[in-house]
Amino acid sequence: MKIQKVGIVGAGNMGSGIAQKIAQEGIQVVMLDVENRFVQKGMENIKKTISEAVKRGILTKEQTEVILNRIRGTTNKDELKDADIVIEAVFEDIDVKKNLFKNLDNICSDKTIFGSNTSSFSITELASSVKRNDKFIGLHFFYHPAKNRLLEIIPGEDTSKETIYLANLFSRIIGKTAIHVKDLPGFAVNRFFVPWLNEATRILEEGIANVSTIDNIAKKVFKIGMGPFELMNVTGIPIAYHSTIGLAEKINDFYMSSGCLKKQFEKGELWNLNGDIDDTKVEIVKERLLGAVFTVASILVEERVSNIEDIDRGAKIGLRWRMGPFEMMNKYGIKKTYDIVRKFVKRYPMLKMPFVLKHHYENMEPWRFSYVDLETRDNIAKILINRPEAMNAINEDVIRQLDEQFTTANNNPDVKVILLEGAGKAFIAGADIQYFINKIKQNKIDDIFKFTKYGHSVINKIDASKKLVIAKLDGLALGGGAEIALAADTIIASNKGGIGFPETGIGIYPGLGGTQRTPRYIGKELAKYLIFTGKILDAKTALSIGLIEYVVPLDEMDSKISELINTGKILKKSIGREVRLSEDLQKIKEYFSDDNIETILSGKGDLNKLGHKISKTISYKAPIAIKLANKIIDQGISLSLNEGLEIELSHLEEIFSTRDALEGLNSMIMRKRPEFKSE
Ligand SMILES: NC(=O)c1ccc[n+]([C@@H]2O[C@H](COP(=O)([O-])OP(=O)(O)OC[C@H]3O[C@@H](n4cnc5c(N)ncnc54)[C@H](O)[C@@H]3O)[C@@H](O)[C@H]2O)c1
Repeated sequence: MKIQKVGIVGAGNMGSGIAQKIAQEGIQVVMLDVENRFVQKGMENIKKTISEAVKRGILTKEQTEVILNRIRGTTNKDELKDADIVIEAVFEDIDVKKNLFKNLDNICSDKTIFGSNTSSFSITELASSVKRNDKFIGLHFFYHPAKNRLLEIIPGEDTSKETIYLANLFSRIIGKTAIHVKDLPGFAVNRFFVPWLNEATRILEEGIANVSTIDNIAKKVFKIGMGPFELMNVTGIPIAYHSTIGLAEKINDFYMSSGCLKKQFEKGELWNLNGDIDDTKVEIVKERLLGAVFTVASILVEERVSNIEDIDRGAKIGLRWRMGPFEMMNKYGIKKTYDIVRKFVKRYPMLKMPFVLKHHYENMEPWRFSYVDLETRDNIAKILINRPEAMNAINEDVIRQLDEQFTTANNNPDVKVILLEGAGKAFIAGADIQYFINKIKQNKIDDIFKFTKYGHSVINKIDASKKLVIAKLDGLALGGGAEIALAADTIIASNKGGIGFPETGIGIYPGLGGTQRTPRYIGKELAKYLIFTGKILDAKTALSIGLIEYVVPLDEMDSKISELINTGKILKKSIGREVRLSEDLQKIKEYFSDDNIETILSGKGDLNKLGHKISKTISYKAPIAIKLANKIIDQGISLSLNEGLEIELSHLEEIFSTRDALEGLNSMIMRKRPEFKSE
């Protein structure tokens, strides 16, 4: 099924933002409200947000025209009848929502999936208002839905597997990071976020600290831009108040609004954020706020509402906390965490020590995160690099887990095909830069070497596998991500896929086989072009030079993969495959010929238009890294792949010891242009 038209019901704060985001991603949207003036208000909201995006250089004026043309405002429900998905974002009133769905059930075609953006009602209950309860699912967006990447996907009791699959596909198409949540009150994020807000108001009510002290401590502890009171002033005290009441009704009194939150809601005034900050209150405020989060997050795992990775993702992506609750628990240590929670549950008789936390405490075990998931079905092992909050960047844990999961799949005699893919927007967008910086600063470059050598062994395992290994690129594959993908037998990309080697721009060279596999598949000249310039190729261009094998629209990827597997007719990576280059690429290839490389490296370059442009791009990269990459490519290409890889590894400590490497890596973190000094 293709997702070509989406209906949004309710053109308010959420509905208009959701409509905007979907249109931005190329899908036709019909936005419906009860009266034309509400539709117009929604359109005005969209125009305002889009014009801000233009001011900030995120969108061009031309793009905004195209986006706005994709959104049709209406008050006529019949216009939704052929929508592939209809998402409801009307008032938080169960009867309004149920009546609406009942009505839509009669109007919409059988294929239409229904999604609800409800924050507090049960999806199963809402689904009971329609006959197609198998095609009903919770799609909980976060404010502002055009900007916040988080989406909670909540299946009801009767939601079918196909609907869940389509919801996930839809989430990817519109650039969201989905977390999977059970249909229980507050889902995942609000369940701990609302008590966190409420706890802040209880601390205030008990006279422990004033608003500015609590906000200030919260900002430091959770590394956030706004404390709970300032945040409530921005997002609305009524929403916070109603959420506490809703959760308390459905769960227990722990979630009940404090008296002072209730009073503030009734007064209809914002919190007064002024006041002196009292630094002596840090410990007590910190323990209470952490207590609320640690306790509820552990309960969420106990109740299987979600897993630790998705709950952390919810906090980091949805709430923009620096760390998720479970990462924070590990940071404080399991003993301290246990003490904080023990004190917290003592304060509230309706809470109990969550047994999962007790178990971790008794075994003195930190929480262990899974970043690489393996699912095997019908002879196909799907390996998902699942760290979307960091664009699936590789680090020691990811590589180790990839090794473990790949080895399991590879050793399973029933598995015929291994599919590598990334969660969220990227396949794998490089490596953890901070890890490299830390190691350089600690004078432990040998650790970087060990990590890279281990990475080589894992990638070589992928390369040597007798199974059919397919890399599915429906997002960026950069640096280490490109290097992992190139070890697969075949790469299938969507039109959102892209591939490139940005390393020389941050002072290093591709160190996980990029200097060796790339020239073997596309020739030395184009490999040098990619590595020296850091150019990220879109999927079509990558296909045209033989770097990848297939490009299909995102929503056709899975069916294309099934077709390839079923027919067995698969184009595999091959050394020196014949390709027909475009005129521009042919010129680039000639420009990077052996005869011209010295000129390019000297920075003088050919001063024709192409040469000038390329020289300019290269002038922003690290000269030592480029020279080394050039040498390694030249030496490696005439040797066996293994010998070439050894050469690539042998210069690793040298490149990471340069000042330029530290400058480049730091600049990436600081988001500034590096100044390379060839040192
Ligand atoms: N505001 C948030 O931060 C947030 C976050 C996540 C989810 N939600 C949920 O999203 C939903 C909408 O919230 P909002 O903040 O956008 O509300 P809102 O009040 O801004 O907008 C609701 C819109 O729905 C329209 N509407 C009401 N009944 C309708 C009907 N029968 N048919 C068509 N349109 C109808 C109203 O005219 C209004 O324009 C709620 O369920 C809310 O719980 C809100």
